[in-house]
Amino acid sequence: MHYLSCALLAAAATSAHARGFSGRALMELQQHAAVSTRSTQLLGDLAANPNNFTASGVAISAVLTGTDAATAPPPGAPGIPPYAPPGPPGSPACRNDDCCVWSQVVPVLKAAFTSSTGCTPLARSAIRLGFHDAATWNTSLGFGGADGSVVLSDDEGERFENLALRGIINQTQAWYNQFKAFDVGMADLIQMSAITAIAACPGGPRIKAFVGRRDSDQTPPEGLIPSPFSGAATNIALFAAKTFSAADLVALVGAHTVSTQNEVDPAKAGDSQDSTPGTWDSKFYAETASPSTPAGVFKFPSDLSLSNSSGTSATWNAFAANQGAWNAVSSNNSTTRLLFSLPFLQDWP
Ligand code: HEM
Ligand SMILES: *[C@@H]1O[C@H](CO)[C@@H](O)[C@H](O)[C@H]1NC(C)=O
Ligand SMILES: *[C@@H]1O[C@H](CO)[C@@H](O)[C@H](O)[C@H]1NC(C)=O
Ligand SMILES: *[C@@H]1O[C@H](CO)[C@@H](O)[C@H](O)[C@H]1NC(C)=O
Ligand SMILES: *[C@@H]1O[C@H](CO)[C@@H](O)[C@H](O)[C@H]1NC(C)=O
Repeated sequence: MHYLSCALLAAAATSAHARGFSGRALMELQQHAAVSTRSTQLLGDLAANPNNFTASGVAISAVLTGTDAATAPPPGAPGIPPYAPPGPPGSPACRNDDCCVWSQVVPVLKAAFTSSTGCTPLARSAIRLGFHDAATWNTSLGFGGADGSVVLSDDEGERFENLALRGIINQTQAWYNQFKAFDVGMADLIQMSAITAIAACPGGPRIKAFVGRRDSDQTPPEGLIPSPFSGAATNIALFAAKTFSAADLVALVGAHTVSTQNEVDPAKAGDSQDSTPGTWDSKFYAETASPSTPAGVFKFPSDLSLSNSSGTSATWNAFAANQGAWNAVSSNNSTTRLLFSLPFLQDWP
């Protein structure tokens, strides 16, 4: 995998860099012991061969260990000119430049994920699909993770936890059919959709894009996707096996700032998990922790448990009080770590 350094999302929604993430927030974060425990663990072939990195391995390891930012520079930043494709899709010049085909794909995704009232239902599903493809992995599995199998395998997409994702699975297959002749892989398409969808939600960060994942149609084991009925200890252990700290897990479930549910309580189908499901804000944390529940909001038992368990409640409350603290952990670490949930990360010659 390697970093796509071109500005493909130049006209995206305001980034977390531009608002919400202030120097003051970062200072408060660093002073807050509870949220400073983000994972810096290496994984996959980086952990297996710590003294043998390719150039892509060096770049990915810098993001995982926190020495390089996980968010992309804001549009118009010095040194990041607007991207100009060197040729039409399929031309030799375009095939030799990774950014070229993605400069065709990303605007199609962005249009599907953006509306005047915030990010769209398809955006929510795309964020969750990226999670469900990536999360079918842990450090003792030699396959699985962000490999496209949630769409490519015969049965993974039919599992109970993916039933609500049928529409986005179908749409992702259609996008793949449109672009696969130009070397777009399914695993990369799924994760590019997820980060484009996050950026399409007002307040959402611009996560750096990496491409070059190996696609697989192999069905991963069951039990690697968390249950909304599990308590904090169970989900902390499940995520620890994927190299996430408890604070990372608390940061990650903040994606429920844009979520809705149909399957957990069908009687409340369509209820969201905070009162502003079109916006990437930190109200989800405050509203989950509050004893009162706004109309139309439904709290997952798993989120409630993280909000009030001893190992996670301090982090939860810090994010509830300060969106900058949440952004600093979620966009700088945990969301990006999710994109790297794979046994093989490096480009070997
Ligand atoms: C303990 C961890 C988690 C649990 C138990 C969990 C569970 C769920 C459940 C049950 C739903 C509702 C599905 C439905 O009824 O339609 C949901 C929705 C969603 N989840 Fe999670 N989730 C977790 C973590 C995450 C993470 C890490 C992300 C992304 C990074 C994520 C993103 C989403 C999104 C965007 C939706 C909304 C989907 C839609 O509205 O179409 N979740 N989650
Ligand atoms: C580094 O890893 C690659 C891929 O596993 C292998 O081909 C190569 O021989 C290794 N180089 C060294 C110096 O260990
Ligand atoms: C799947 O997508 C096709 C077009 O690509 C559409 O005709 C069909 O209705 C979709 N089915 C579902 C379940 O979304
Ligand atoms: C990883 O998942 C596999 C398959 O579910 C399981 O057997 C194994 O115990 C898990 N490893 C860890 C470290 O939890
Ligand atoms: C956490 O919240 C749940 C659901 O409201 C409640 O049943 C439980 O007693 C709370 N636990 C603590 C330690 O406050």
